[in-house]
Amino acid sequence: MNNFQGKTVVITGAGSGIGRALALQFGEAGARLALNDWNEATLRETIALVEQRGGIAWGHSFDVSQKEAVYRFAEDVAARFGQVDVVINNAGITLEQCMIERTGYPDFEKVIGINMWGVIYGSKAFLPYLKARPQAVLANVSSIFGVIGYPNQGPYVTAKFAVRGFTETLRIELAKSPVAVVCIHPGGIRTNIARNIQSDHPKRVEKFAQVFEKMAITSAEAAAAQILNGIRKKKKRIVIGPDARKIDWMARLFPSAYERWIFRKYDVEKFSI
Ligand SMILES: NC(=O)c1ccc[n+]([C@@H]2O[C@H](COP(=O)([O-])OP(=O)(O)OC[C@H]3O[C@@H](n4cnc5c(N)ncnc54)[C@H](O)[C@@H]3O)[C@@H](O)[C@H]2O)c1
Repeated sequence: MNNFQGKTVVITGAGSGIGRALALQFGEAGARLALNDWNEATLRETIALVEQRGGIAWGHSFDVSQKEAVYRFAEDVAARFGQVDVVINNAGITLEQCMIERTGYPDFEKVIGINMWGVIYGSKAFLPYLKARPQAVLANVSSIFGVIGYPNQGPYVTAKFAVRGFTETLRIELAKSPVAVVCIHPGGIRTNIARNIQSDHPKRVEKFAQVFEKMAITSAEAAAAQILNGIRKKKKRIVIGPDARKIDWMARLFPSAYERWIFRKYDVEKFSI
């Protein structure tokens, strides 16, 4: 799809980071936006920013891990815009750094509920509408942590590998349909994802956010631009940032030995809560 003019584009998690940057760039490209975030205030801010730039945006705040809410949203979007051309399942969270052994089930369930089930619901709920179009795109946001294992991020990595498996399978199943299915693997992107961690320990979150922000070398705007570009060029896989591209190659060339290089000096226990 190389022209977004007049297309209906759905983006979840559009109140911040990559989702907001995507909304602004699709808006500037002439798309009509159906946006979601569970944070009503930041969702409204994104809608106002799109409108200030002359774009068209509407949104609804709900939690993407709630299946009925996602299906209701899909019906509302179709009723309001009459068509759905692009869906980007982007909403996601992360947790404080913690080893799998020490991570409780509620944290696992929360991350998998949003980062994995949110993507599955968002894909299946919108699929009938996408298939009704002559050309459509379903893009799911995984991570470079959907390519390699990463210590102290067990629930996140588990969910992002699941998103990759789900999306690649769906792509094969839909090969003869008008729907192009894209899996997105960002590396470190400078967003609020670390600061948005829900925790009873704000000082720990602040410390982690500072470390994360030093490592995150790609801006949300550059990430969004690569996603629009990748969709225009019909890419099946969009790997974002030099860090992610390097890790992706390393993992494919050395599927088990990469661990030795990346985590040679990493003290897993020291960085776990
Ligand atoms: N920032 C990175 O380095 C990075 C790297 C790889 C992948 N990603 C992925 O990119 C996506 C966007 O992350 P970001 O970095 O822009 O983070 P962000 O925190 O800046 O934005 C995420 C948005 O999703 C919303 N959200 C979270 N849970 C939700 C839910 N249950 N329902 C609805 N909205 C919800 C948040 O309110 C927030 O506005 C996520 O899936 C994330 O895992 C980010």
